[in-house]
Amino acid sequence: MPTAPTRPRGVAELRIDVVSIFPDYLAPLELSLVGKAAQSGLLDLTVHDLRSWATDRHRTVDDTPFGGGAGMVMRPDVWGAALADVLTPDATLVVPTPSGETFTQRVAEQLALEPALVFACGRYEGIDARVAEHHRAAGGTVRELSIGDYVLNGGEVASLVMIEAVARLLPGVIGNPESLVEESHGEAGLLEYPVYTKPPSWQGLDVPEVLLSGHHAKIARWRRNRAIERTIARRPDMIEALDPSMLDKADRALLTGHGWLPGEDGRFHQA
Ligand code: ADE
Repeated sequence: MPTAPTRPRGVAELRIDVVSIFPDYLAPLELSLVGKAAQSGLLDLTVHDLRSWATDRHRTVDDTPFGGGAGMVMRPDVWGAALADVLTPDATLVVPTPSGETFTQRVAEQLALEPALVFACGRYEGIDARVAEHHRAAGGTVRELSIGDYVLNGGEVASLVMIEAVARLLPGVIGNPESLVEESHGEAGLLEYPVYTKPPSWQGLDVPEVLLSGHHAKIARWRRNRAIERTIARRPDMIEALDPSMLDKADRALLTGHGWLPGEDGRFHQA
């Protein structure tokens, strides 16, 4: 049976349940900011062992795939029983899978607004497709999400990634909410500029002069230029996607200087 929550449910900003055959894999959620958020009651987090809902002597959760092929598939009846107990009508079911939509900062922001999330961690070749289909047909929200174009052994690590990205957006989890504003994958559509701290000189490398100048406008311009140059070098796809109405004269000049020109749609493309 599921582990009993330590506090009455419904008082936290967000309730998260994780169902997995390896509940110990989720132990890192007790650490750091996410752990603190759970301790302080901002986050109501419960991890469940899927095998608690298996009914046979061996606590089987998987079987061979219909139609043949390698590997095993997780049984819908076991997942159905687990979700019948864990999934409340207000909860979004999150299924981490490499064949899902890409999990991005925008998706993290959407999930952080939900009252409750249930992460269903698949192993092997995944969960029988009828589980997601059944919950959608019943009017539930199901998000099948991939954290990137690579294959993990199961959904546990992907759930850790998504839970950390979502939890830090909850009001009160990050001490200084300002730090959420300028970071990479924020609204600006650019990667974050490089950052420096003391000492001002280290290993023969000096912190850029302008950052020591106290001149706020110059610092802001310098940071924006470095953010644009970094994005050009590392994520040209993000430059292509920039909203042209967000670009000032200096941004445009910098982009042009790096061989990016505005097209008919106003967006910048590599010349
Ligand atoms: N399970 C296995 N690989 C995954 C991925 N890339 N994203 C989410 N869940 C997964």
